[in-house]
Amino acid sequence: MKLKKRVLSGMRPTGPLHLGNLLGALSNWVRIQKEYDCFFFIADWHALTSDYETPDQISGYIREMMIDWLSVGLTPEKSTLFVQSDIKETAELCLLLSMITPVPWLERNPTYKDQIAQLANKDLSTFGFLGYPVLQAADIIMYKANGVPVGVDQVPHVEITREIARRFNYLYGNVFPEPDAILTETPKILGIDRRKMSKSYNNAIYLSDSPEVISEKVGQMITDPQRARRSDPGDPDVCNVFSFHKLYTDSQTVTDIDAQCRSAKIGCVECKKIMARNMVDALSPIREKRAYYLDRPELVEQIISEGGQRARQVAELTMAEVRAAMKI
Ligand code: TRP
Ligand code: SF4
Repeated sequence: MKLKKRVLSGMRPTGPLHLGNLLGALSNWVRIQKEYDCFFFIADWHALTSDYETPDQISGYIREMMIDWLSVGLTPEKSTLFVQSDIKETAELCLLLSMITPVPWLERNPTYKDQIAQLANKDLSTFGFLGYPVLQAADIIMYKANGVPVGVDQVPHVEITREIARRFNYLYGNVFPEPDAILTETPKILGIDRRKMSKSYNNAIYLSDSPEVISEKVGQMITDPQRARRSDPGDPDVCNVFSFHKLYTDSQTVTDIDAQCRSAKIGCVECKKIMARNMVDALSPIREKRAYYLDRPELVEQIISEGGQRARQVAELTMAEVRAAMKI
C-alpha cells in the first residue's frame, strides 16, 4: 500500500465559523481528507498568544469549533481531529526549537509586525507572541507533515517552519521533512457590507445562523451601489448578492438573473429572496448536523479525546527521536 502524504493544519478558536471560513479553508480540508493522511487541530495555545487576558471564552470556542468542523464534514473516520493543548509534547518541542531559533527570524516575520500594528489595543510585546511561529513550527513538524493547507497570510509561518526544520536537521541529524504550504484558489467571500467577511467587521453569516437570521442578513446585503432605484439597470458583476447566487443557485437561474438585473426586470428585494432561500437550503445539511452534535456534548468530548490520543501516539514517537538527536 502506498502511504498517503501527511497534511496538517490548525485554526485558532476565536469564535464561531462563518461562510468565509467554510468556503475558504474548511471546504478544502473536507475535500483533501480522502487523499491525504490529515491532522487538523484547534490551536488554543495560539489563541492565548493574543487573548491571554480573556482565556475564559476559549474552551467554549473549542467545543463550538469542533461542532462546526464535524457539521461541515470533517470526520474522525478520515482525519485526526484534536486540540493543540491536549498534546503537551508540543510545548516541549516548542521549547527545544526555541533554543535554535534566532530572534531576528521572528522579529522580521511580517505577520508579527502587522498584528502588533493592528491590535494596538492589546499588549503583544510578550515572549509568547514573538514565539508564535516557533509554536506553529512545533505543531507542524511534530507530525512530520509534508503539506500545510493555509491561506496566503500564513505562508511566512510555514517558511519559518522550514527554516527551523532545516536548522534542526543540520545541527542534530535528519529528523524532520520540510513542509510545503498548500495554497488553493478560494473565492473571496465578502460580508454583507461588501468588505471581506470577518468576525471583527461584524458582517459575517455564521454556520450557526438560523434560516431567519440568514434571510435577514441577506436582506441587508449591499448590492450594486450604483443601482439606486428599482427601475435602474444593475450590474451583477459588482453585486455581492450575485456572487452568492453563483455559489448557491443553479446555473440556468443565475444566467436569467444576470439578464434580468441588467434590464431592470428583477428588483433586488426579490433577487435577494431567491438567493437567501438557496443559501438556507444549501446550508441545511450543516444545520442538521450541528443540531445533532449540539445535542450530544459527550460525543463531541469523546471525539476530542480520541483525536488527542491518536495525535499523542505520533507526538511521542517524534519526541523520542528528538530527544535522542539532541542527546537530552
Ligand atoms: N496560525 C494559524 C492561523 O492563525 C493557526 C495555526 C497554528 C496553524 N498552528 C498551525 C496553521 C499549524 C497551520 C499549521 O490561522
Ligand atoms: Fe444584485 Fe440581484 Fe440587485 Fe442585480 S438584482 S443588483 S444581482 S441583488
